[in-house]
Amino acid sequence: MRRKLVVGNWKMHGSRPANAELLAAIVGARPYGCDVAVCVPYPYLTETAAALSGGDLRWGAQDCSAHEQGAYTGEVSATMLAEFGCRYAIVGHSERRACHHESDLLVAQKAQAALARGITPIVCVGETLEQREAGDTEFVVKRQLAAVIHRLAHCAGEIVVAYEPVWAIGTGRTATPEQAQAVHAVLRTQLQAATGHGERMRILYGGSVKADNAATLFAQPDIDGGLIGGASLKAADFIAICRAAG
Ligand code: PGA
Repeated sequence: MRRKLVVGNWKMHGSRPANAELLAAIVGARPYGCDVAVCVPYPYLTETAAALSGGDLRWGAQDCSAHEQGAYTGEVSATMLAEFGCRYAIVGHSERRACHHESDLLVAQKAQAALARGITPIVCVGETLEQREAGDTEFVVKRQLAAVIHRLAHCAGEIVVAYEPVWAIGTGRTATPEQAQAVHAVLRTQLQAATGHGERMRILYGGSVKADNAATLFAQPDIDGGLIGGASLKAADFIAICRAAG
């Protein structure tokens, strides 16, 4: 039985007072019947770690460098993240693939860098609307995941995968539970074939998950939780989503 995982992806949102309030509310609503984490902007890691320390809530980053150290202005290494107790790092989010031209190979290298420092990469895959309409969804998500599996080899069983259809992110247009389940099943088959551990690996759904649609998404057999953007910034909504997974 896979324990569900709900991860808040704050993106480039937050402020010190707003974060303190949000984190206090998340802590105050414990316990949850699932694993819960928040992935916050880098400058907020210290305070997030302090606010969540000592409990069972986890925190992480929204990216990490593929490099160990060096002349890479603006980048943050997995080693640095590990110093802050990060459990997770999102890699390959579609906003980074699109805005920062991240390739499948770079995403795989980032996943490898995170794992090497004991940080679980949350590897995002997902198709655009154009790709879905062309019937290419399976091809695209399998190609994105294959790059990571190939790079990580025997460690590939250690990742978390997030299926995030690009057309559903921040649009209020959620994949139906059936659409999401169909892709999750494809990804699990791929993970099982590659690692032999597909049945115990977690595959999250992300893309306009809200308090009122979380339960039906999480009820699907291959949806093991969610990666939550907009709704993770509102305490009541995020807590309700975590409860739906519990
Ligand atoms: P959303 O974002 O929940 O706001 O659609 C999800 C994500 O981008 O991870």
